[in-house]
Amino acid sequence: MNNIIKFAAISTALSFAACSPAGDQIDRKVDELMAKMTIEEKIGQMNQLSGGYNTIEDVAAGRVGSIHNCVDAEEINAVQKAAVERSRLGIPVIVSRDVIHGFRTIFPIPLGQASTFDPAIVEQGARVAAVEASAAGIRWTFSPMLDIARDPRWGRVAEGSGEDPYLDALMGVAMVKGYQGDDLSDPTSMAACIKHFAGYGAAEGGRDYNSTMISERSLRNTYLPAFKACADAGAATLMTSFNEIDGIPSTGNTFLLKDLLRDEWGWKGMVVTDWNSSGEMIAHGFAKDLKHATELSVNAGVDMDMMSHGYVSYIAELVKEGKISEKEIDRAVRNILRLKFELGLFENPYVDPQASAKVDYAPEHLAAAKQCALESAILLKNNGVLPLEKARTILVTGPLADAPYEQLGTWTFDGQPEHTVTPLQALRKDYNVIWEPGLGYSRDKNTSNLAKVTAAASRADAAVVFVGEEAILSGEAHSLSDLNLQGAQSELIKAVRRSGKPVVVVVIAGRPLTIERDLENCDAMLYAFHPGTMGGEALADLIKGRVSPSGRLPMTFIRTVGQAPFYYNHNNSGRPCSGNETLLNDIPITAGQTSLGCTSYYLDSGYGPLFPFGYGLTYSTFSYSDIALEKNVLSKNDVLRVKCRLTNTGSRKATELAQLYVRDLVGSVVRPVRELKRFERVTLEPGQSAELSFELPVSELAFWNADMEYVVEPGDFMVWVAPDSDSGTPLDFKVE
Ligand code: GLC
Repeated sequence: MNNIIKFAAISTALSFAACSPAGDQIDRKVDELMAKMTIEEKIGQMNQLSGGYNTIEDVAAGRVGSIHNCVDAEEINAVQKAAVERSRLGIPVIVSRDVIHGFRTIFPIPLGQASTFDPAIVEQGARVAAVEASAAGIRWTFSPMLDIARDPRWGRVAEGSGEDPYLDALMGVAMVKGYQGDDLSDPTSMAACIKHFAGYGAAEGGRDYNSTMISERSLRNTYLPAFKACADAGAATLMTSFNEIDGIPSTGNTFLLKDLLRDEWGWKGMVVTDWNSSGEMIAHGFAKDLKHATELSVNAGVDMDMMSHGYVSYIAELVKEGKISEKEIDRAVRNILRLKFELGLFENPYVDPQASAKVDYAPEHLAAAKQCALESAILLKNNGVLPLEKARTILVTGPLADAPYEQLGTWTFDGQPEHTVTPLQALRKDYNVIWEPGLGYSRDKNTSNLAKVTAAASRADAAVVFVGEEAILSGEAHSLSDLNLQGAQSELIKAVRRSGKPVVVVVIAGRPLTIERDLENCDAMLYAFHPGTMGGEALADLIKGRVSPSGRLPMTFIRTVGQAPFYYNHNNSGRPCSGNETLLNDIPITAGQTSLGCTSYYLDSGYGPLFPFGYGLTYSTFSYSDIALEKNVLSKNDVLRVKCRLTNTGSRKATELAQLYVRDLVGSVVRPVRELKRFERVTLEPGQSAELSFELPVSELAFWNADMEYVVEPGDFMVWVAPDSDSGTPLDFKVE
């Protein structure tokens, strides 16, 4: 079943739950409870506090609807007891946590999960996370993060699925399905939270929290599709983003939260702010004070306030002043109570303190995490030295070779490093390992040990160098203006190179780094976005050749930070780069005034990226042939059917990611030079072929056009079946 059929099935299954008899029954329970509540009790439900024991008196007084960041089952039960047994109406609290890529068993960071292009393994990871987190009493996770990211300077690219709306949507829906399962009331289910709504990844300069300038059309064509897909798939909650879009902070953006989310999409879930994002509208210059920020947030459509304390402090006063209507309060509280009924919290508010011990780090959880890590690593270069099958003695060096906490990646609150298998530990099972760290950590500039590393490499058959970033160097508020390897890591690679032995570099990082200069000093490079608990075992399997790498880039890799932002699905401009442009050092000394090249490129770094979206090598080679269209003139109700023969032309079993891209050549607004519309992972033995068949309903060529209508415009199109976003020979087709 290819991705689109699975996608449709997911959407149907989950959206049905929202309007079933069970849904009506819940609405009746909500109505009955609302009728008993005072305005103060309603306001209390709209307030989320961070903590556990410290919130008990507020909870008992009915001033808290949710607690965040409490992960101890006993403590959660104590808070829940105060809610159920001491507050007047006994409404349970909902407990939330940032379970972003695993709870105890840590999977690759979401950008690494996107590199698998395998929604099934991503859904499995979310299911594992839900089983482990719910066992501790957590029933609401602030995930998936759906922010489209085109600028690797932004540290939070680590938490999303990269630059492509289609991949972003598939990965987001897979996580929603994994977290929520088929029934939110199942005690192993967690409410998902699609975030950050919206446009957060477009922060100017890649500086976190910064301004974004996104037109409504770009919002709809690029930044919202994954949110819409997840909303349609039944995502239970949504989080507003810190940024403002063209001057309007999302937490006070009525167009986003009411006109679009509620009126146009008909979404019935619950909206929560990001941490104090309501209060931050003061700093934005959008609210005079916290009372004004509270008025703006509630009236824009935000149901729950995370940690500004504005709701619980000012709503009663604002209602008395007529600045907030009770209708708005009832709308918000209804969404909150509905979620609590759907989760079964009224029937089962408590958690078994022994439950976690039975599920945390279960063998099947670790196996799933390893499989995901195996599929997520991307082979960027290999001049034949990988896999290291014949080597007996290898040098292992570098600050990320044995860093059990760092390889877990950003947003790993609850993963325990003692369970991590590091590359050094795993490689010791396959090779006689000489271990010379070389550097103490990624930012270490001390080169005094590099000569020892060179000498050690000389004694080995090959060397594997683990470089990259500590977990803290990506993620929230951790933007970088220089993406080169930190510290003396590049010097470390050169030191190993000086031994003359084969050099394999493994980068473990939270984002695409600018590694062009390091590529020149190694024979092979594997890129592993913080691979999680089982990353070491997975990387050892890949290095030894037990498995071939199959990961693909979910984000463009740029040559230099000056190229950011760069993404494959860009518009063509009126002067697209021809590839024959004059570069800096070719410009004559006494060049007269001329617009060299007259195209869109850089004098110093040319145009193209280092590696394009969708790129990745395997231990084999593949050919694409006999690409053909069932027909090349289609109506708007047709289905584009594309066949292709894929052959493993190499000598090893491997998995190829065949990708289908389209281009709409002329539109009422300009259209991207390519758009990913389908992909399929295909595993073939050496010499084996498979006939691939892609189906793309013409309706999926729709976009928001010059009239702001979501339509397919007739005209000429191109279609590729290719190994990445910069390869392949297109075929033409027409939509009438
Ligand atoms: C953070 C993040 C958000 C997270 C929230 C709660 O600031 O922006 O993604 O879910 O606070 O921890």
